[in-house]
Amino acid sequence: MQKEKWWKSTVIYQIYPRSFCDSNGDGIGDLQGIVSKLDYLETLGINAIWICPVCRSPQADNGYDVSDYQDIDPMFGNLEDMETLIREAKKRDIRIVMDLVLNHSSDEHRWFVEAKKSKDNPYHDYYVWRDGVEGAPPNDLKAAFGGSAWEWVPELGQYYLHQFAVKQPDLNWDNPTLRRELYDMINFWIVKGVGGFLLDVIDLIAKDPDNGVTFNGPHLQDYLKELSKETFQRADLVSVGEAWGATPELAKLYSNPDGSELSMVFQFEHIVLDQIEGKEKWDLAPVPFLKLKEVFKRWQKELFGQGWNSLFWDNHDLPRIVSRWGDDGAYRVESAKMLAILLHGMQGTPYIYQGEELGMTNIKLSLEDYQDIETLGMYKERIEAGYDKDEIMRSIYAKSRDNARTPMQWSDAENAGFSTVTPWMKVNPNYKEINAESQVGDVKSVFHCYQKLIACRKEYPVFLDGEFELLCEEDEAVFAYTRTDESTQLLVVCNFYGETVKNPVEKPNDAATLLVCSYEDAGEWETLRPYEARMYLYSL
Ligand code: GLC
Ligand code: CA
Repeated sequence: MQKEKWWKSTVIYQIYPRSFCDSNGDGIGDLQGIVSKLDYLETLGINAIWICPVCRSPQADNGYDVSDYQDIDPMFGNLEDMETLIREAKKRDIRIVMDLVLNHSSDEHRWFVEAKKSKDNPYHDYYVWRDGVEGAPPNDLKAAFGGSAWEWVPELGQYYLHQFAVKQPDLNWDNPTLRRELYDMINFWIVKGVGGFLLDVIDLIAKDPDNGVTFNGPHLQDYLKELSKETFQRADLVSVGEAWGATPELAKLYSNPDGSELSMVFQFEHIVLDQIEGKEKWDLAPVPFLKLKEVFKRWQKELFGQGWNSLFWDNHDLPRIVSRWGDDGAYRVESAKMLAILLHGMQGTPYIYQGEELGMTNIKLSLEDYQDIETLGMYKERIEAGYDKDEIMRSIYAKSRDNARTPMQWSDAENAGFSTVTPWMKVNPNYKEINAESQVGDVKSVFHCYQKLIACRKEYPVFLDGEFELLCEEDEAVFAYTRTDESTQLLVVCNFYGETVKNPVEKPNDAATLLVCSYEDAGEWETLRPYEARMYLYSL
């Protein structure tokens, strides 16, 4: 049998660097801060770290607006710090995965500065331009952060495309010289020893804006194949494609086991269910539980043997899962564990977003304290559209990206042990109760549950290759499934809600081992307590 790829049996920890750990007392997390926490991550058991963008950037979208792809932003350190991080992580068998923003650059990138000079500047065609008449954009395409996706440049008498902020002009992947430059840049990082790349909004790189096509556009698969061949395929790297618009069909192409494109897809179908259909994420609705089960089942089944899933609840763009679909009050610990157990038994590569392993929660701030460009853009748009302020704030509390961006809670010391000075973003006031120091070593902690799940994945091959089967599909409260290989079966049973329910699942044989559960011990088989989750393993 062919040796499985390393990234199939690893757990990836995601770091939002500005909120992780501040080593030099300026209130902003940095690379040396990450280095100082590698032992903590080794204790957790993860073997790869995905770091959100640390390249040089004016920080209009917290680093997702890159002005120099081959340098580190001084806010985070320098190239030497990055080399130290790669080296120190390697000593602990941890690989560093970089976040690559290839769909757009910053408007302060040298290429864009040149591109704006004249229509026949060699860099002009690195971006997407359309002639127009001032005040009348080429069409009504909208930018993700509000307003038109077209920005007028008076000196040129042209508009450029930006699917995100005005300061994030879209790159023109139809230009082969641009593509070559991007590949060279990626190879620069490969030579430095990174373990792979997270490819930001990769399904947007090919587009046909004149016809309203913004994702999965013409030549996308060709560009991905070329990108892969010119870069990742030359080394044993992981490449993860962030694709909001992926379907299982597309995902099979992106993550084709022949390795011609990417390693895996990072898709969002399960995590966008709690919004009014056809509306925006801000238009809140309870999660449709049966639909949630159906979505997981479909992705688990369709990609089995034909692609590879990413498993995640949280990231830097999403609210905290324990506040979202668990209970961040009385059952915070149980529900955080339940959600972890539910996810980590599935097939794919699990991601843990910083603080998720502690059961960190959402935050409620006053409007002035929000920093996120998306949140502020939405607020402005909705106020102008006549929405009620309280309603907007409810959406922000539930879904703002800043929920995930508060400083990591290391201890009950001032500023949660994140920094010696006031951090760039408010610390969640619950840090005295929820912090790493109090959880590491405590067998009842959320941290311990994650630690165990990671250890189990390393120990039992059924996590890697067991086939998924959803149980009790119609049950309105219980999410249960099995994973089965030739000799073993894994059984996961989760009560997704806060009331005690009847356990609809048949009891496994008495020789079954309880691997992990969300309470101190499994209670009686017949009932499941609020947010009770159990994971069993047995031989067939
Ligand atoms: C991705 C990132 C997000 C960023 C956007 C634009 O969705 O995860 O944080 O704002 O791309 O680069
Ligand atoms: Ca710092």
